Amino acid sequence: MAATVRSSSSRKADHLRINLAEDVSSDSPTGLDEFHFRHLALPEIDLSDVQLATDFLDRRMAAPFLISCMTGGTEAAQPINRALAAVAQRFGFALGLGSGRALLEQPELLPTFDVRDLAPDVPLLANLGAVQLNRGVTVDDARRLVDLLRADALVLHLNPLQESLQPSGDVQFGGLLERIETLCRTLGVPVIAKEVGFGISERDAVRLAEAGVHAIDVAGAGGTSWSEVERHGLNGPLRDVAAAFRGWGTPTADSLVQVRGRLPRLPLIASGGIRNGVQAAVALALGADIVGVAGPMLRAAARGEDAAGDLAAELVETLRRVMFCTGSSSLETLRQAPLVRHGEFKSAAVEFELQTGQGPSFHDVTERVQASVARLGLFDGVVVVSSLHTTAAVVVNEDEPLLHADFTRFLNRLAPRSGYEHDDLSRRQEVSPDEPLNGHSHCQQLLLGQTTVVPVERGRLRLGPWQRVFLVELDGCRPRRVRVQTLGR
Ligand SMILES: Cc1cc2nc3c(=O)[nH]c(=O)nc-3n(C[C@H](O)[C@H](O)[C@H](O)COP(=O)(O)O)c2cc1C
Repeated sequence: MAATVRSSSSRKADHLRINLAEDVSSDSPTGLDEFHFRHLALPEIDLSDVQLATDFLDRRMAAPFLISCMTGGTEAAQPINRALAAVAQRFGFALGLGSGRALLEQPELLPTFDVRDLAPDVPLLANLGAVQLNRGVTVDDARRLVDLLRADALVLHLNPLQESLQPSGDVQFGGLLERIETLCRTLGVPVIAKEVGFGISERDAVRLAEAGVHAIDVAGAGGTSWSEVERHGLNGPLRDVAAAFRGWGTPTADSLVQVRGRLPRLPLIASGGIRNGVQAAVALALGADIVGVAGPMLRAAARGEDAAGDLAAELVETLRRVMFCTGSSSLETLRQAPLVRHGEFKSAAVEFELQTGQGPSFHDVTERVQASVARLGLFDGVVVVSSLHTTAAVVVNEDEPLLHADFTRFLNRLAPRSGYEHDDLSRRQEVSPDEPLNGHSHCQQLLLGQTTVVPVERGRLRLGPWQRVFLVELDGCRPRRVRVQTLGR
């Protein structure tokens, strides 16, 4: 056990040293610079009207920034955490602490983490590697860590790539979700899940939300690259393996658009490569509740509290001016401010299947189309929803059962059940023995069409209050495939 402790805390010391001495930036862009606000020469607010305050974890923050989880457990970490805590308290930022694994094993390391007295009013986050739940760390251990640090929440970091690049990294990620679910249910304080700089996909975000996490930090690609940090500490072939991942991961903006598109209400933190207040504003407008900064804060804090304070002030004052010049007096209005994504028009597609009922029957697929749009990362454009069948249609209409009965009567009036040449099986070639008599189903599909197009705005289907997307079964019940193709940016 002592050997593990030494290695985990000496690894943290190496990480600090490498982050301070080397270029560890990702090769990937964050994607945030693709987005532009519309500048207002006539914002119709005063600079002093701009309010940056927000609530997070039941605490008031003066500005929507998080100093992301970084350090603790080494001698060098103590002054850095103290400087960061003082800055967090002064600017009303949330503060994350580095992984507390070493502290669980060596309680004497507490002073290197313990900053609550310096930052009594801000949201304070304890941190653990999620994989430690598969390596013997229990819910009681996690609770002990939160109590020791007097934290408001526990952040679990998900770092499979990073662990896989450490010679004796913890790579037992199988079955982790169930343990995360148990932790969320029993810990007693909110659990937040994050990556460490390779992004969280829409699929993983949904699983984590269903497991009960309170919030997600997408920690996307474009900033500190943990494959690069590990590469600097490696020799031999694994060093080349690490080098291959410098551009790896889902860029922060893409991760945000995906997760926010799918989970409109989950508290969301954006981190990964956020280097100035304009990028922070874009992340907020893309749906982040707060924005996290790690690497630059570390480098500033290593120079002292004043330097970290200067960086904090720069972030706040830049964000304030973006809000002023977009006429946004609050973070809520910033989220509505016109935001244009530049770059190429792209197209991508996914399909899903559903089991229908006896036709005519109306199957609401709106959420599944929205999930597909989120997965494909479309921010602004259109989505084409197609039935891949000749007796099932796709339409937009209202989800009201009596209206569906009206539609059924209407369809049956226009194309009644009998009287079709197509149903004269003796005149058709290669007819299977169970061929249905469905001339009316084909004719009804001809009326409704196999495709519908829905606009997408800020990652969400732009539907009117009563509009839903339906697959309309016009024949017998069966599995049906729907194709969702996005066009846009
Ligand atoms: C020196 C350093 C140590 C870090 N240690 C942790 C950690 O213990 N736990 C964690 O969840 N993330 C850790 N991170 C990752 C950051 O919280 C953040 O997700 C990532 O660095 C991306 O943000 P950035 O591009 O602003 O640096 C660390 C980052 C740095 C720079």
